[in-house]
Amino acid sequence: MSHVCGSRFAFSLDNALRRLVHPPQKILGELVQSGMSAMDVGCGPGHFTLDLARLVGERGKVLAVDLQEGMLAKVQAKARAQGLESRIALHRAAGRVAGVGVGLDFILCFWMLHEVPDAHAMLVDLHGRLKPGGALLLAEPILHVGRKRFEAETGLALMAGFRVAERLDLRWSRAVLLHKDLPAEKAPQKRGATGKSAPKGKSAKRVSRSKGKSGPARPSSRR
Ligand SMILES: C[S@@+](CC[C@H](N)C(=O)[O-])C[C@H]1O[C@@H](n2cnc3c(N)ncnc32)[C@H](O)[C@@H]1O
Repeated sequence: MSHVCGSRFAFSLDNALRRLVHPPQKILGELVQSGMSAMDVGCGPGHFTLDLARLVGERGKVLAVDLQEGMLAKVQAKARAQGLESRIALHRAAGRVAGVGVGLDFILCFWMLHEVPDAHAMLVDLHGRLKPGGALLLAEPILHVGRKRFEAETGLALMAGFRVAERLDLRWSRAVLLHKDLPAEKAPQKRGATGKSAPKGKSAKRVSRSKGKSGPARPSSRR
């Protein structure tokens, strides 16, 4: 039985120390651009959600999804206080798998997948919600997810249709950037398969580092 982090532990996920360990703008800034539609699945109390909303800007949209009403209420209160309510749609996941949002540019799945009983079903679901060329940042806590388990999760992501674009070096985490490739006929010929709507910036440029399906790419630091 998977353990879900209860909303009474929300403070441990969003506080000054966490902002130092996982600075949202630094982690997401190269992956998310103005005008994008993004999803923060298993958003918890919104440590990343508010900055995602800042990064997508006024023309963008963030879908914050969580199983727990208590977590979503915290995100809503912060969004209201910071004037970001109009950019964030809250959704309580019905059942095990998130139920809304299609045609997304970017999905964040941070310290969440290990809480999901059927990780493969979740990854298939997330893959289906991304636009071709979109990206999923999957991060798991080293405290709960060992190397083997994380590799197994990455394998499930490949089975779901993702490609490993880059291994990321995030504190206290195991992390990987996964891409949903453009169909072959739409993929740019020479510069890889990141495509027009793929997240740009340095991380997209480093994709060539791990061309193989699950090869052990050296992590790049985003600390
Ligand atoms: C450890 S917290 C991480 C929260 C946030 N991503 C962060 O990094 O601060 C995991 C969150 O995932 C949520 N969760 C677990 N299973 C879920 C599911 N199937 N659908 C949506 N949310 C889920 C939990 O309610 C919890 O808020």
